[in-house]
Amino acid sequence: MKKVTMKDIAIKAGVSKATVSMVLNKKDGSISAETKNKILKIAEELNYIPNGVARSLSTNKSETIGIILPDIINPFFSEIARAIEDTASKLNYNVIFCNTDSDVYKEINYTKLLISKLVDGVIFITGGKSNHPLEILQSNNVPFVLVDRDVEDQDNYCGVYCLNKEGVIQGLEYLISKGRKNIAFVTGNKGLKVSKQRIEGYKDVMSKYDMFKENLIFESDFTIEGGMEITEKIISENKEIDSIFYSNDIMALGGLKVLLRRGFKVPGEISVIGFDNINISNFTEPELTTIAQPIYEMGKQSCETLIDIIDGNAVNNKIYFKPELIIRGTT
Ligand code: RIB
Repeated sequence: MKKVTMKDIAIKAGVSKATVSMVLNKKDGSISAETKNKILKIAEELNYIPNGVARSLSTNKSETIGIILPDIINPFFSEIARAIEDTASKLNYNVIFCNTDSDVYKEINYTKLLISKLVDGVIFITGGKSNHPLEILQSNNVPFVLVDRDVEDQDNYCGVYCLNKEGVIQGLEYLISKGRKNIAFVTGNKGLKVSKQRIEGYKDVMSKYDMFKENLIFESDFTIEGGMEITEKIISENKEIDSIFYSNDIMALGGLKVLLRRGFKVPGEISVIGFDNINISNFTEPELTTIAQPIYEMGKQSCETLIDIIDGNAVNNKIYFKPELIIRGTT
């Protein structure tokens, strides 16, 4: 079994393979309209698909970009991936999605796969454990843009980010304005720069009001299950907690489920606030107060920036978006 080739079209059309190639590659100035139309009609009838790899080799472009992201099940990443794909298709690029579970080996393998597939560029959301995949892209001169998560020790990398620390500051100032004092903070994986930035915001504000207690910072993993688990720990260890600030919405959703199942009144006894403003945060009961990241805008910008780099245009190497407090029923 083999794919339909130009030779099959040539035989059926009664012309040379070279003629078919010129028509399909739109270099057909010297060919009559009748022959051109006949060839195109036969190609369609046979469902001919041009060999993308061969075309990429000859043009050194694949019109394809890769997205490497940690957890496609987390709506934050699927929403950002959606924005990237919408933008890419408007700019006539295809997209290859790679889910890594924040596993370095998967990140490296997918990076090598995308390079071998001759992608024109990569949008990379790191799992935070290694910069090696980015070094591989750099040494192969494959353009890349970071989005959402910056990496340590690389100030020259191009990236699109949200002002994480400012987002946490906004949320805490709001909780404190509502009289909350014993605020637990649930982080993502502490090795991630986004986690460090959010923890910094928590430390700054709580210290400003002389309310900082190291033992109210709890490390989790940005998953729903992690949010449930850490909330059980928080409510069993700290009876005086009056708020829990989760570093992302799906941990907050897990926490909300535990608090309500344990009979806590939200927000009457414990206020809950998340971070991201994923679409589902508007559909919990009570609805989740959160710090909105402009997810769609960040995804769109990262794609436009990457394609600018691919086209050889100079770009602003770090773009920051502002977070926004969205007040709903859990506070
Ligand atoms: O929900 C996933 C979290 O990790 C988000 O807050 C996003 O910023 C990503 O880094």
